[in-house]
Amino acid sequence: MKYVSIIILLLSSFFLTAQTVIPTPETVVQGNGEFRTKNLQADIRQTTDAALPSEAYRLQITENGIEIEASGDAGFFYARQTLKQLGTEQQDGTWIIPCLKIEDRPRIGFRSFLLDSGRQYQKVTTIKKYIDMAALLKMNYFHWHLTEGLGWRIEIKQYPRLTEVGAFVGKGPEQQGFYSQKEIKEIVRYAAERCITVIPEIDMPGHAEAALVAYPELGCFGDTIQVPENGFTQNIFCAGKTHTLDFLKNVLDEVCELFPSEYIHLGGDEAPKGNWDTCPDCGQCIKEHGLKDSHDLQLWFSAQMANYLKSKGRKAIFWGDVVYQEGYPLPDNTVIHWWNWRGHKDTAFKEALKRNLPVICGTNYYTYLNFPVTPWKGYEAARTFNIKDVYTANPSYGKEDSPLLLGMSCALWTDYGVTEDMIDRRLFPRILAIAEQMWSRSEPESFEQFYQKVKDKKEWFEKQGYMFGPGLKSEVTDDFSWD
Ligand code: ACM
Ligand code: ZN
Repeated sequence: MKYVSIIILLLSSFFLTAQTVIPTPETVVQGNGEFRTKNLQADIRQTTDAALPSEAYRLQITENGIEIEASGDAGFFYARQTLKQLGTEQQDGTWIIPCLKIEDRPRIGFRSFLLDSGRQYQKVTTIKKYIDMAALLKMNYFHWHLTEGLGWRIEIKQYPRLTEVGAFVGKGPEQQGFYSQKEIKEIVRYAAERCITVIPEIDMPGHAEAALVAYPELGCFGDTIQVPENGFTQNIFCAGKTHTLDFLKNVLDEVCELFPSEYIHLGGDEAPKGNWDTCPDCGQCIKEHGLKDSHDLQLWFSAQMANYLKSKGRKAIFWGDVVYQEGYPLPDNTVIHWWNWRGHKDTAFKEALKRNLPVICGTNYYTYLNFPVTPWKGYEAARTFNIKDVYTANPSYGKEDSPLLLGMSCALWTDYGVTEDMIDRRLFPRILAIAEQMWSRSEPESFEQFYQKVKDKKEWFEKQGYMFGPGLKSEVTDDFSWD
């Protein structure tokens, strides 16, 4: 009897492990037996069911084969992503997949991963690696942060100095470089094949030092400026100069040509107004448009840019900084990206709702995965968190009661020199908790249950090429380094 129970225990843990999928599908009904094939792709039958929502799918695995039903490409794609996690490939190339039936659809329609290629540059192959990761985790937007004080990374044909000069203002070996328009088109295509839309972020008016080194006349005083190694400065695009606004609109023309995305992110965060408060052109613009002050000027400036995108049929996403105060109204194609929980709690979320603007939730606590689990460089103890914090206390999760909730995001910023080889260990395993919150419609399990599932999946994700770092402080060994 004792041996029978041990065998049952071993078998059930095998089945549990074999059927772990993250993010968790809405319903899983376990069958008996397994399907074996040497030609997985050929053994999948796809049927269109136009009644299913666009990203939903039904997946049935029997001893005779695999059936997928979906209404279009996205549903079929997500079913195959699930299948990838369910199957195990034997040494002789045979795939073994347990029999079961899954019905699945996402909790939230907009699920994004941000990569900061401004502060640190990543190779094109690395960008593709993280697009693949986002696809495995059933995210559907890749938010690409392309311009920063430390580097302008997107080739703009009309302004070659942006990349000739602006892509090389950082000192680090991985702060050199940019993406050519040819490379960008290839990345957009690569992402689209994985049901991912690339949203470019061109940050304005702040985080613009690299552009101002290339073209000093775009700033308030036209002087030579220093690029900060960390943080940001008051050297921002001048809102009072017509030629600066024209420049930015010309940049957006090329951006819109490269990126078919409905959404273009225009940044708008952390723009200190020291220069604007003393610039005669900014002062004149405030007077001319009857604005209250330099913050109001940022709203006016943002509205000009959002309206320009509107004329091209696009929507403008801004960081929550633009709704901290009342002022010049933003047009109705504006979306607010809530981020600063540490500094402003849920002000941006509430203020966006007040203005009837859709919101993407991606708070620094707990979706900024560059924040390590234990202190490292500029990330002091107050800027650390673990996977339990993400799973149990993420302010960005659980906001779907609001009809204005557009989406949920997570981010990998590259402040303080987060280089390519550090990215995996920042993201994993914590990004699995975020993917779960974005996609899974199931009620959250206990943290312990969820974390067991994550640990069961570690080997699988590592086989796909994604290294795990520690998820909890207690797992950070003395010899572990975030470098
Ligand atoms: C941000 O983290 N500055 C958007
Ligand atoms: Zn100015």
